[in-house]
Amino acid sequence: MSDRTGIFAGEDPFALAQAWLAEAEKTEINDPNAIALATVDAEGLPNVRMVLLKEIEAQNAPSGGAFLFYTNYGSVKAQEIEGAGPGLGKAAFVAHWKSLRRQIRVRGLVSREDGPQADSYYASRSLKSRLGAWASRQSEALPSRAALMAEVAKVTAMHGPMPARPPFWGGFRLVPLEIEFWADGAFRLHDRFRWCRTAPGAAWEVTRRNP
Ligand SMILES: Cc1cc2nc3c(=O)[nH]c(=O)nc-3n(C[C@H](O)[C@H](O)[C@H](O)COP(=O)(O)O)c2cc1C
Repeated sequence: MSDRTGIFAGEDPFALAQAWLAEAEKTEINDPNAIALATVDAEGLPNVRMVLLKEIEAQNAPSGGAFLFYTNYGSVKAQEIEGAGPGLGKAAFVAHWKSLRRQIRVRGLVSREDGPQADSYYASRSLKSRLGAWASRQSEALPSRAALMAEVAKVTAMHGPMPARPPFWGGFRLVPLEIEFWADGAFRLHDRFRWCRTAPGAAWEVTRRNP
């Protein structure tokens, strides 16, 4: 019989991730949805940076379960995600909650979410953030802070109080092939359960791992 009980119990890893994030929202001092997103460049050199996880879609959602974040499609991370070619995007991320002493690691396939879902998330952001997305050529060299503020003034005049989502800004949907749930245990005898599947939609195999 499986000893996957308590905080690890359940048959939907997306629901489990949602439950862990909901707990972290009560205990983390800020940004409980911050994740370190890893990509590799064309030479295979890894890269990592924080982004905010904006949605966890459940297994019964049309996507079959996924993790969503938003960014600039011209950014380094986007180029690295999409560098392998259309339909071949891959990435990994880790969420770590110090207050809970837990982490979730995810690896999988990534595609754009640049439809109505991205439009409505963009519309939900503050006006300054919406205009900021227009003003920033994320990851490109910037000569000065003043140059950025001049760009903000320019796009504010151009797009007004109801800017449309920039075509170069939107979501990425990561559909996992692996999700690992980790919780701190006494004397470094941590609990780890790795959910693996060979393709999106295939059955999950769950194994307990050595700490
Ligand atoms: C807590 C935190 C949350 C962040 N969230 C995002 C985000 O949701 N989207 C984003 O594009 N950048 C976000 N950033 C900025 C990124 O870490 C990074 O600087 C930026 O996306 C450029 O990365 P790149 O040049 O590798 O593409 C966040 C930074 C921190 C520290």
